Amino acid sequence: MSAHYPDLNGRTALVTGGADGIGRAVVEALTAQGARVGFIDVAQQAGEALERVLATQGHKVAFAHADLRDVDATRNAVAHLRETLGPISILVNNAGHDERHRFEDVTEDYWDDRFAVNLRPMMFVSQAVAPDMRALGGGSIVNLGSTSWMQGAAGLIAYTTAKSAVIGFTRSLARELGEAGIRVNCVTPGWVMTDRQREKWFTPEKWEAAQARQSIKGEIRPEDVAAMVLFLASGAARMCSGQNYIVDAGVV
Ligand SMILES: NC(=O)c1ccc[n+]([C@@H]2O[C@H](COP(=O)([O-])OP(=O)(O)OC[C@H]3O[C@@H](n4cnc5c(N)ncnc54)[C@H](O)[C@@H]3O)[C@@H](O)[C@H]2O)c1
Repeated sequence: MSAHYPDLNGRTALVTGGADGIGRAVVEALTAQGARVGFIDVAQQAGEALERVLATQGHKVAFAHADLRDVDATRNAVAHLRETLGPISILVNNAGHDERHRFEDVTEDYWDDRFAVNLRPMMFVSQAVAPDMRALGGGSIVNLGSTSWMQGAAGLIAYTTAKSAVIGFTRSLARELGEAGIRVNCVTPGWVMTDRQREKWFTPEKWEAAQARQSIKGEIRPEDVAAMVLFLASGAARMCSGQNYIVDAGVV
């Protein structure tokens, strides 16, 4: 079941990490609403393949290959997508990487690298698109968080720490940009069954444990998260800003 937001039709959106997982579902959901969607990803083949499929279906879509850890390359990718699709009024800061690591093994470089993928792009991509949104009289920025830090998950402390900072970033950015009519929110997924999760981290034991904690049983799918992103991107959420919206099937 999917909602229809007529005001998304014809608007330009930018999604980071849009080639796979939740980002791909967001790209597909936005194009289905008639939005013009640019997405950035380090996964070149997957990005080009998705661009091809959606373009063949008649959607306005553009892929830019970049590693978001490289701020200059990222700025160039944003500029390219703006040139191709027009000024950006929706930004979904989705890219993230939940690589596991032992606390004892974390080096300074590794710590910085994890922040360079999980937090820093939110700052510099937001900075790159904010002038578009100001000129358009408003916009919506959605940042992807994670419940992992709320649970105090072990085995990925650089990831959980960066993800917890997404909340603070969201609240401050909402104040920075609010007077320009730009709303900034965080969407925090629970355990979402992406291809990567299935391949890398799924075990029957983890699944059982997750199901026991969820109030609503069953799989949380990328589309379930994309549905919340669509709402926040649209004018239906015109008075929602600076908040965190959790999509975790009611974990208690
Ligand atoms: N899947 C989950 O259970 C879950 C749970 C909580 C939070 N999240 C968050 O949701 C967001 C999406 O996660 P996902 O599960 O869809 O991940 P995913 O690994 O399935 O997809 C992430 C996408 O980002 C891209 N990406 C990764 N590093 C990049 C880089 N340096 N430069 C450019 N692109 C890069 C990947 O190539 C991929 O296409 C992330 O912010 C993640 O932290 C996911």
